[in-house]
Amino acid sequence: MSDISLQNFSYAYNHPKKVLHNINLTVESGSFSVVLGPSGAGKTTLCLAIAGAVPHYFGGSSAGEVHVAGIHTQKSTMHDLALTVGTVLQDYETQLVTMTVEEEVAFSLENIGTNPIEIAQRVKDSLEKVGLTGYDKEPVTALSGGQKQRLVLASVLATNPKILVLDEPTSALDPEGTASLYRLLGELNKEHGITILVVEHDIATLLPYADQFILLENGQLILSDTPENVLSFMNSQQIFVEAIPPLWQLKFQLEKQTTTQFGPWRREQDAITELRQFLLKEVAKDA
Ligand SMILES: Nc1ncnc2c1ncn2[C@@H]1O[C@H](COP(=O)(O)OP(=O)(O)OP(=O)(O)O)[C@@H](O)[C@H]1O
Ligand SMILES: [Mg+2]
Repeated sequence: MSDISLQNFSYAYNHPKKVLHNINLTVESGSFSVVLGPSGAGKTTLCLAIAGAVPHYFGGSSAGEVHVAGIHTQKSTMHDLALTVGTVLQDYETQLVTMTVEEEVAFSLENIGTNPIEIAQRVKDSLEKVGLTGYDKEPVTALSGGQKQRLVLASVLATNPKILVLDEPTSALDPEGTASLYRLLGELNKEHGITILVVEHDIATLLPYADQFILLENGQLILSDTPENVLSFMNSQQIFVEAIPPLWQLKFQLEKQTTTQFGPWRREQDAITELRQFLLKEVAKDA
């Protein structure tokens, strides 16, 4: 079953130039998808189309259809969509609206009429999930960029969304914060069945979690397939090669120069194990 589907979807902001061209895309329920592509490819616009902000907030002109959890986005409202889709925007600071951390998380719940006891529990749980326990009474303005980014995620998680759309959610986080955020997203996906669609440049960090890579370039959907197939395609077609993780660049190079075929290196450890065996074989050959 699909949670997100775009059919022949095209879009232009209030400007004649189309920024998405005839996109056909399916995101399966309970899957973890990653949107890749160079700057200006249309990744954010795609996220906005799924959240309904395109076209409801941005206007512009569109063709084709977007369905999210069975809802036809153009025929629905952003408010109705928000009950199902939680969104963390690239421009996350614009999503913060209140004075203190706990008020921020409670805000979206008050909007949907959650009772106060339930609100208190969900605020506590979601702050804990993102590592902000103890910050409840802090003013939002006192937080660092990375903490604000995690706070936006906490506010979104508190509403128990079925689908999570995150646009570069680690842009303000350090490597440790990034790893821990993706561990959390991996857990939400595997243990709670939440469908996740994330825009991210750091492919290596996401490889352990992703089911599908979606490659965009110049507003076109180039390929959506398994991570290994999309990486191979990027390598063979020389598209957006700068995003191929260094270990995968080495893998492609060795596969080209020798007859060896390595497995899909989802984790660094898989690569290390296979490389060790490969080197031992090469040494034995030379001996
Ligand atoms: N509000 C807007 N009004 C008009 N044009 C826009 C607007 N937002 C984005 N664009 C244009 O739409 C195209 C796609 O932009 P988008 O932000 O979706 O790309 P992106 O892949 O997310 O890029 P980045 O990696 O830099 O975040 C670009 O040409 C951009 O200039
Ligand atoms: Mg963007």
